[in-house]
Amino acid sequence: MKNIVLLGGGAREHALAWKLTQDGATVHVLPGNAGIPNSHPEIDVLDFAAIQGFCEEHGAKLLVVGPEAPLAAGVTDFFAGSDIRVFGPGRAGATLESSKVWSKNFMRRHGVATAMSWQFRSDKLEEARAKAAELNGQVVVKFDGLAAGKGVYVCSSVEEAQAALDDLAAQHSGWFSFLLEEKLSGPEISIIGVTDGNRIRLLSPSQDHKQLLAHDQGPNTGGMGAYCPVPFCDDNILAAIRTEIVDPTLEGIQAEQFEFRGFLYFGIMLTPQGPKLLEYNARLGDPEAEVLLPALQSSLLELIEATLDGTLARCTVRQRPGHYVGVVLASGGYPAAGFPTGFPITGLDQLHPSILAFHGATRRNETGELLTNGGRVLVLVGHGAELEDAVAHVYREAEKVNFQYVYLRPDIGQRPEPTRIFSELR
Ligand code: AMP
Ligand code: GLY
Repeated sequence: MKNIVLLGGGAREHALAWKLTQDGATVHVLPGNAGIPNSHPEIDVLDFAAIQGFCEEHGAKLLVVGPEAPLAAGVTDFFAGSDIRVFGPGRAGATLESSKVWSKNFMRRHGVATAMSWQFRSDKLEEARAKAAELNGQVVVKFDGLAAGKGVYVCSSVEEAQAALDDLAAQHSGWFSFLLEEKLSGPEISIIGVTDGNRIRLLSPSQDHKQLLAHDQGPNTGGMGAYCPVPFCDDNILAAIRTEIVDPTLEGIQAEQFEFRGFLYFGIMLTPQGPKLLEYNARLGDPEAEVLLPALQSSLLELIEATLDGTLARCTVRQRPGHYVGVVLASGGYPAAGFPTGFPITGLDQLHPSILAFHGATRRNETGELLTNGGRVLVLVGHGAELEDAVAHVYREAEKVNFQYVYLRPDIGQRPEPTRIFSELR
């Protein structure tokens, strides 16, 4: 049996481990968590020497990377030339995610449809203030670097834009860069593919729900739920996304000759002027992975191996019929700092067998009791012939799972269908 080492320890990695196990692999997860079989909490995702030792000890020749941090730190470059193959881009490819300025310039060089933007250094804050005022405060301020989702300020007035720039200056000392972007509007979708830098095989379109509260209110989180496919994302829209965003990106990767074998994520806004790319991620989305992988009928292991062998051209991606909805069960207080954890989790054994329960942040105490251990504790995934069926099923089942101060967003997969935007697009 094929031995795989998977890096990461959230619900995305639980979904990856679950899928790769279904595909026939033995999956060891570093560090994993209490809900993921074969987890090894003693190994850190940034300790490349320890990861190498673990792979050698377990005869694993394939390393799959879940989160961005080890990619940005160069895990793929570290193993280059060894007999351990890594699914995940090298440091240069990961820069598409880790530097907003670099990725914006890449989009420009290769004609990828995106928002207009202006780049500034921290010593040019006054110029940025003037530009934001000129744009009536309808701007998005983006810090240039990995900021765990906290480096983006979406502003609606000059006052908000000035406050965002003040906050940026307060948060970061020394020299830094940032972008001002024109503020776009429209629904957002996640388009995620498996690519070898030459070809790409897209998974189903999906939608994340990043804000904490119903109707997209409240603070941004790591993601409170996701669903796929997205009914309004039809063939016309997908064709526009292909020609205006995906194809020029692949041409750019080839022209600049950097290694990119892994998941490539396009965060897209569907504006009245057509699809625009907001960001790249060099990995699977979380919580998108938790619905995309159950929806994927094809073997992920085969797709990964074909990517590394350069035979992706021979692969097709088959999706299972129906709809998948994933709802995050979060700790009350998240995403603010300092919320309590360590509460017993009950009811998982009562779930209907068709519900998948991916663990995001759980641990066990000395007696083996399962406890909460972070913000996004569990992701429950339900399936249905129609989106409404999947929604009803997962929410009914979610009532069975409990821990103190549990919070879930009540409207995952229930956004009103956008109409105006798409009639203009067509
Ligand atoms: P990013 O990390 O660049 O994807 O930005 C995080 C979130 O900010 C996105 O998911 C959008 O909701 C919002 N956002 C980013 N860029 C823009 C933009 N140009 N116009 C409007 N909203 C944006
Ligand atoms: N769901 C958004 C992300 O993974 O960045």
